[in-house]
Order: sequence, then structure tokens, then C-alpha cells
Amino acid sequence: MTATREIFLPEAPDTAALAGALAASQPPVAVVHLHGDLGAGKSTLARAWLRALGVTGPVRSPTYTLVERYPVQTGGEALHLDLYRIGDAGELEFLGLDDADARLWLVEWPERGTAALPPPDLEVRLAVEGDGRRCVLAFHGGTGGLWQFGFENRMPFAGGS
Ligand SMILES: Nc1ncnc2c1ncn2[C@@H]1O[C@H](COP(=O)(O)OP(=O)(O)OP(=O)(O)O)[C@@H](O)[C@H]1O
Ligand SMILES: [Mg+2]
Repeated sequence: MTATREIFLPEAPDTAALAGALAASQPPVAVVHLHGDLGAGKSTLARAWLRALGVTGPVRSPTYTLVERYPVQTGGEALHLDLYRIGDAGELEFLGLDDADARLWLVEWPERGTAALPPPDLEVRLAVEGDGRRCVLAFHGGTGGLWQFGFENRMPFAGGS
């Protein structure tokens, strides 16, 4: 089962606030696919999410490394992937992610590596609309359903659909 939720994000801090609410309500292990064109705000959302999990050092762009890994306060690690420059999905196998104690996957350009990725609990779709961004969240399965329930209770902003 999939439940969708549409939100308008007028400015970049609204994207960060959305990330904070998703981080505060996320399940213990969460796979998140971030869809959207260049400049849609995927990295803005990912960076704010990592900050919300307590990552204090630099958040590097995974554009060339494909993945950046961060220990998180609650244990395990968060993985931030950007597959824009991946050659083929097989390259993911060389990143050693099978060994990761991953609590969170934040994947930009997931469509380029779908076959080698775990299926998403949440898909985020971002698109430019005027000066802001239109966001559609799709929560998948039972995990996603519980997540959405918690998320709705933490929404710090009014821009609902
Ligand atoms: N809700 C918003 N309203 C207006 N601007 C925003 C919003 N969210 C993010 N931005 C801005 O959009 C720009 C591009 O953001 P970002 O780098 O996160 O995009 P991206 O989707 O990761 O792009 P790429 O595919 O190139 O990695 C940034 O300048 C950011 O501040
Ligand atoms: Mg990006």
C-alpha cells in the first residue's frame, strides 16, 4: 500500500524543515529515494536530514564518490548516495554497502541504480514551482504507513495539499 502527501515548499528552509520532520519520525531503518531534476533540492533535503540526525561535520557531496557515510547518534550509519554519475547499477556492488549497518539510505538519482538498491520505504519527488518547490511524498508498505502517521504529527509548517 502506498499513501501520498503533497506539500508546497516556498523557500529552502522549508525543505530543511520537511527533512527535520521526516528524520524525527523515521523508522529505525529507512530507505529513501530522492527524485527530481538538477537543482530541485534533493541535496538540501539530504543535508538537513543528516543534521537532524546529529551529523555535525561537513556534509560532502557524493557526486563523484557515489556514497558518503556518516555515523549517527542512535547507532549505525547514514548513507548518502548520488548516482547521477554512475556507469551502471553494478558499480554499487563495489561500494561495500552490504557491510554497512545502515539505518538510513538517502539516494539521489535512484533511477540510475534501482536494480542494486533496496526498495524504498519513502519516495520524495521534488520539482521547481515558481520560486519554490512542489514536493510529493509516497510512503510505501506498513513501515511507510506508520511513518506517515508520525510525520503528520510533526509537520512544523502549514503548506499541505
Ligand atoms: N523549497 C525551496 N525553495 C526554493 N529554493 C530551494 C528550495 N529547496 C532548495 N532550494 C534551492 O535549490 C538549489 C539547488 O538545491 P540542491 O543542490 O539541493 O539540488 P539537487 O536536487 O541536489 O540538485 P543535483 O541533482 O544537481 O544534485 C539550492 O540553491 C537550494 O537552496
Ligand atoms: Mg544534489
